[in-house]
Amino acid sequence: MIKLFNNNNNLIRFQQILKRNYSNKKVKNVEDINIDSSNDNNTLVQQYVNKEYESYKIHKPVFIKEVLEILNPQPNKVYIDATFGMGGHSRGILETCKDCYVIAFDRDPKVFEMTKPLRSEFKDRLITINSTFSSMRSALKEKNLDHLKISGILYDFGVSSYQIDTADRGFSFKKELEGPLDMRMNQNSSQITAYDIINTFSEKDLRDIFFYYGEEKHTKNIANEILRKRKIEPIKNTSDLVKIVESSIPYPMALKTISRVFRSLRMFVNDELNEIKIGLTQGEQLLEPNSPLLAISFHSIEDRIVKQYLNKYTTIEEPTFKFSPTYKSPIFPSKEELEWNPRSKSAILRTAIRTSNKPISSNYNII
Ligand SMILES: C[S@@+](CC[C@H](N)C(=O)[O-])C[C@H]1O[C@@H](n2cnc3c(N)ncnc32)[C@H](O)[C@@H]1O
Repeated sequence: MIKLFNNNNNLIRFQQILKRNYSNKKVKNVEDINIDSSNDNNTLVQQYVNKEYESYKIHKPVFIKEVLEILNPQPNKVYIDATFGMGGHSRGILETCKDCYVIAFDRDPKVFEMTKPLRSEFKDRLITINSTFSSMRSALKEKNLDHLKISGILYDFGVSSYQIDTADRGFSFKKELEGPLDMRMNQNSSQITAYDIINTFSEKDLRDIFFYYGEEKHTKNIANEILRKRKIEPIKNTSDLVKIVESSIPYPMALKTISRVFRSLRMFVNDELNEIKIGLTQGEQLLEPNSPLLAISFHSIEDRIVKQYLNKYTTIEEPTFKFSPTYKSPIFPSKEELEWNPRSKSAILRTAIRTSNKPISSNYNII
């Protein structure tokens, strides 16, 4: 797996600040600070959320209110944003608590170019690492940050609006966003692309991808049409694929099928389900006792993995997670959020708190 790390200067400054804090005895150790869930922080969360809701110019992070309430960022604590994207959640954390730190991961190197102003605004308090969240521990080790105690971790799965709305990434099936069949979240990687799958995979493999990753039932017609078309010439663009699905499935059913076919290809190209499984185990290993894990999913396949994971690890003999009494059930977008951000429609947030039991998911066969 290709890993590109950036921000070395920021990293060094970040480490210096932590060291300075330790040696000044401002804090003896990051873990020595007690969580003080004072009302001051709730007011800050509300102020931040109001500001976010009012401004339509900035990126809209899903469940920002709930994420900040649950994380309840505290001074000198370190939080992980496993899916930095446009940095909406990271910014919320950093603005809610002026003295906390965020380490943010993203597998897409382009998001770091896009968020330069945000990164320079928060300088040493925000470290960004170009890595998948399935490799968080080794990436932290490589940066000499593996000694840090992590007080909360957030996953916001899937692709960002920026990725979907950029035509040359090939994520969108919209006509106006026509692009190559790529769909790699990291275009510098040597992963296969959607083009490779569509133009080389067997009928059975195509059908399996559409079925298992897209929960699509009409796989036979679509796969046959793909095989027929690619004999004539390679299927190159998103619009070529849309036309193939439209000619295999009667309208208006085609619309939902197109969306499922695109999603299934994206998930397969980026190995998203394994990423989630492994990423959650990394969270278990990184989190301090009493620290929350938060996972935002956008459809049932992702959510099922999180649900099964948390159900399992909250009920085993020495549970490594417990549900908070306030957030035991999954959280759905509020009316206010839906009005503010219609893209949150299918989002689900699940959360649990790390216990002090030893992590057990050392291997990847977790569910
Ligand atoms: C829904 S967006 C996150 C949006 C972000 N929370 C915000 O407020 O701007 C998901 C991001 O996670 C990244 N991503 C997806 N899978 C990943 C993985 N396995 N490892 C690291 N980053 C991943 C994507 O590249 C994308 O930028």
